[in-house]
Amino acid sequence: MSNKDQFNDGDDVNPSSNPHMADLMAARLSRRQALKGGVGLTTSVLLGGLSLSACGGGTDAADPLKLGFAAVPKNKNDIVTVPAGYQVSILHALGDPLAFGEESWKDDGSESADSYNRRIGDGHDGMYYFGLSDAGQYAPGRSDRGLLCVNHEYVVGPNVLHPNGRTAGAVRVASEVEKEIYAHGVSVVEVKRGATGAGMAMVRGSSFNRRITSATEMAFAGPVKGSALVKTKFSADGSKTRGTNNNCANGYTPWGTYLTCEENYTNVISRVSPDATSDDDGSRRSAHDVAALKRYGMANGRKSPYLWDTAGSDDLFVRWNTAVTAPAGTAADDYRNVFNTFGWVVEIDPFNPTSTPVKRSTLGRFNHEGAWPVPAEAGKPIVIYSGDDSRNEYIYKFVSKALWDARDVNGGLAAGAKYLDEGTLYVAKFNADGSGQWMELTHGKNGLDSANTTYPFADQADVLVHARLAADTLGATKMDRPEWGAVNPQNHEVYMTLTNNSNRVDPSSTPTGSQLKPDAANPRYYVEDGSKGNANGHIIRWRETGSQAATAFKWDIYLFGAEDDAATNVNLSGLTAENHFSSPDGLYFDPRGLLWIQTDDGAYTDVTNCMMLAAVPGQVGDGGKVTAVSGTETYRGAVATPDTLRRFLVGPVQCEVTGIAITPDGKTMFCNIQHPGEDGSIAAPTSHWPDSQTNPTSTKRPRSATMVITRTDGGAVGL
Ligand code: FEO
Ligand code: CA
Ligand code: CA
Ligand code: CA
Repeated sequence: MSNKDQFNDGDDVNPSSNPHMADLMAARLSRRQALKGGVGLTTSVLLGGLSLSACGGGTDAADPLKLGFAAVPKNKNDIVTVPAGYQVSILHALGDPLAFGEESWKDDGSESADSYNRRIGDGHDGMYYFGLSDAGQYAPGRSDRGLLCVNHEYVVGPNVLHPNGRTAGAVRVASEVEKEIYAHGVSVVEVKRGATGAGMAMVRGSSFNRRITSATEMAFAGPVKGSALVKTKFSADGSKTRGTNNNCANGYTPWGTYLTCEENYTNVISRVSPDATSDDDGSRRSAHDVAALKRYGMANGRKSPYLWDTAGSDDLFVRWNTAVTAPAGTAADDYRNVFNTFGWVVEIDPFNPTSTPVKRSTLGRFNHEGAWPVPAEAGKPIVIYSGDDSRNEYIYKFVSKALWDARDVNGGLAAGAKYLDEGTLYVAKFNADGSGQWMELTHGKNGLDSANTTYPFADQADVLVHARLAADTLGATKMDRPEWGAVNPQNHEVYMTLTNNSNRVDPSSTPTGSQLKPDAANPRYYVEDGSKGNANGHIIRWRETGSQAATAFKWDIYLFGAEDDAATNVNLSGLTAENHFSSPDGLYFDPRGLLWIQTDDGAYTDVTNCMMLAAVPGQVGDGGKVTAVSGTETYRGAVATPDTLRRFLVGPVQCEVTGIAITPDGKTMFCNIQHPGEDGSIAAPTSHWPDSQTNPTSTKRPRSATMVITRTDGGAVGL
């Protein structure tokens, strides 16, 4: 996502007065002093397959992971820089046709709006590779043929899909809006290796190739299906809706479906009353609805940055206004509830191109960055972690009611219904002593009922549509903008990036509005010049106590982003020239257990473009207690070294590196570049990537794209 204010993915709308960790810390200081050495390693099974350098010494006969490339230096070049011995090719970029019958990208924005139903969308983000069998089914171990699902998060500046960029004005041009609606969503494409090597190309014309857009029909499932909260003119019974939007990160299921997650959907929804004399949508709603809209950042009279609702009277456009426009009617007469139809995890069956995507409401509604599953184990529940990417928002966990049965592989959306429509949603509390709790978001428990004086919860649908309000009630911990998560396949510990938080302020100041002081889990504070570390973000991790479905965990901070010359209480992880980074965002454990970290930075971009690093992580408790620049004590993982963390790639000018997948054999990496040249314009471009990758004098438009990265000797990537 762009870092520009207009599209800020960190709207701060959390006014709740949960206890701050700084307060809890003082109370528990003596207890923590007794816990010298941090949370400690309590089980011996965690070391299998991990590098010894990451684990602080010892020997491991089980083929330890070892980074096998030279660190890429920071740079501001308009190409993707990879280590010596690696090569980059482009799989697909904005506007490339999926089918025969469409012309190739012309680089002048002349493609029709409708053609984007059959072209690659914009703003490449989260993605996943599914092996594809000869019979057209999910083959989890297959590396030479697969389906690649890619999120198209948003229409990126400088709007190169239009002839001259976005036409200025308070009323949008209909043809431009229609094109943008179809350029959002998800692409599914078949990918295949050639006769030699590990490189892959898109199979143009494959019957699996598909676009899912902001206009595609979708079903609701779980407790919100049929709720009054999602009834609209399109679906009077609240059973379906149209479109998925602002699909940021993602997830996958063990049965072979794709999970795409709706993050900054407020960017496309307005709340504008139709009558010029009254902009008071609030007077037409209950106090309950007004409180909910406010908590989710949808202010009365708000105009979305995209202004899609202004493009005309066609239902394709008016549906993006969530105001009550038929005050004499019901929710079935307008789109007053359209806002509630976004913010979900959407399940897509890539193996069935005619299937209807399903919004799985049991996983809750918020700025869903992604949905990260734990590797499934027979007889145990499916567990999926999520983050809400806004300043001071929360981390969630879903535990299915049904227990995993491997016979459900290839079960499609029916398996999805079995595992994802019934279960329990929890929200995280990170205690100052390095422990944590998962608190249940179930109607009738923990004060989540109609007697709640802050926000009366009518039923479980109300709890899920307004998960933020439910989490407020339980006193969840407000985090520094949760971005991606990843689960270590070796030991099932969970990692999550916290990218930065401009509302985390100096502990000696008096916080105003939604500002917060640092706490143990978010221990650095934000200042404009980045000197106090918060602008560089950090990566938290935790280990569940006992089973993955447990309600207690131990946490520490795996890495603190920092500039290498920052003070030691800012550069707490000891980063060096080979591995310093800022604002972690994308995060991915590959099947072998290497951790990949991608950045979306605005704090260090004067020195380097955004990047991706590879890591051999240790485990919770491998470091110890430290005091951060704020004076706040926290638990930090082992200090990084170039052996455990190394820069693998630097992206082109003004990009974000986001989205990664690796084939099961480790030989083919897919990696996305989003918004290259975002500060430029059609007339004054600042990047020509991806064409610039092979043509230094390119004059072509910059485009978001998926790359294929392989070793020139055909070996496994990263090792
Ligand atoms: Fe779309 Fe939170 O990044
Ligand atoms: Ca960005
Ligand atoms: Ca992101
Ligand atoms: Ca980001």
